[in-house]
Amino acid sequence: MQIELPKWYDLHVHLRQGDAMKSYIEAQIAMGCTGVLAMPNTSPPVSKVSDSGTGDGWSIEAYSTMIREAGGEAFSDIIVPLYLTGETTSEMIKTGAEKEALKACKYYPPHGTTGAQSAAPFDTYMENGVFAAMEEAGVILCIHGEEHGLSGEHYFGRESNAEEAFYQNRMPGLAQKFPKLKIVCEHITTKIAADFVQQSGDNVAATITPQHLLYTTGDMVQGFKYHLYCLPLVKFERDRQALRDAVTEPGNTKFFAGTDSAPHSAKTKATDCGCAAGCFTAGIAPQLYAQGFEETGLDLSDGKAQETFKRFLCTNGAAFYGLNAADETFTLVKEEQSVQPLETADGKVTPLPLGMGQSTIPWSIKL
Ligand code: DOR
Ligand code: ZN
Repeated sequence: MQIELPKWYDLHVHLRQGDAMKSYIEAQIAMGCTGVLAMPNTSPPVSKVSDSGTGDGWSIEAYSTMIREAGGEAFSDIIVPLYLTGETTSEMIKTGAEKEALKACKYYPPHGTTGAQSAAPFDTYMENGVFAAMEEAGVILCIHGEEHGLSGEHYFGRESNAEEAFYQNRMPGLAQKFPKLKIVCEHITTKIAADFVQQSGDNVAATITPQHLLYTTGDMVQGFKYHLYCLPLVKFERDRQALRDAVTEPGNTKFFAGTDSAPHSAKTKATDCGCAAGCFTAGIAPQLYAQGFEETGLDLSDGKAQETFKRFLCTNGAAFYGLNAADETFTLVKEEQSVQPLETADGKVTPLPLGMGQSTIPWSIKL
């Protein structure tokens, strides 16, 4: 069995910085990506639109150039969202959007994940004109939807967790105050978040990662598979089912691929006092998504099922971000492929299947 697909946009990926970027970009290209949305939680963060702006961070201009120079000139489009910090102003949004340098902004919960220490609390932007300026200028808000600063018992539980708290307590107010703001609910993991997206207007969409389609908490805690540790955490069966239902719904226009491939080398992934959040899936994400679709019971040899898969991987996200569909194609083949660690300038990075004890995956790719 094989499926020919247009090259696709990975609308949430971490390409990091420095010499290792080259390896991460190569892995994106090797899995048929025509373009990327590259996350701004770099060191330093991408917190300015242009180099003429004040502040310590990198600019979107400068980081986009770094990506292009590290092999990303092969991409048809590179979107770098602006990291929302306490220094972000509505004026930056307005002028950035006018110059067409600014397409999206990223909200991180302060200290809530890797590289989120520069973020300010959500209410800051509700009140200080930043979200208002984004709505006005048509700049997309990429949201890491988790409540920050929760104690352990409220952070992760079966009845409530940081993502559910965010989608119940923050998102309704955001949608009400800024009804035209375009929002991507990133890497959603819960039924509550999926329901919120489904019940919202066309201005609200969501990305879903391979790991959240494939796994639940039990898969992580059995043997403590730390390569599956990412944020938001994988959740429970009813949540995975809600994500699977959302992506396999034949009329799906709101849910699309954003791998959140987040490389951490062996030096930093697991340490004596904790573990960096992030699953590395670059190079193999379409294969893992296909595996996830099949695990829902969908028969990918069927033309209608292939169409549904194509919407999720190739069509919906490009349409939401106003990107052109790619002319070039790649082919997914139902043929086992072995998975190898990636050697980078920062050290060895372990792809998720290897971290789960699997040295092969059921699908492979032909470019
Ligand atoms: O698991 C994650 N890893 N979640 C994030 O939000 C950030 C990412 C990273 O940068 O490693
Ligand atoms: Zn991410």
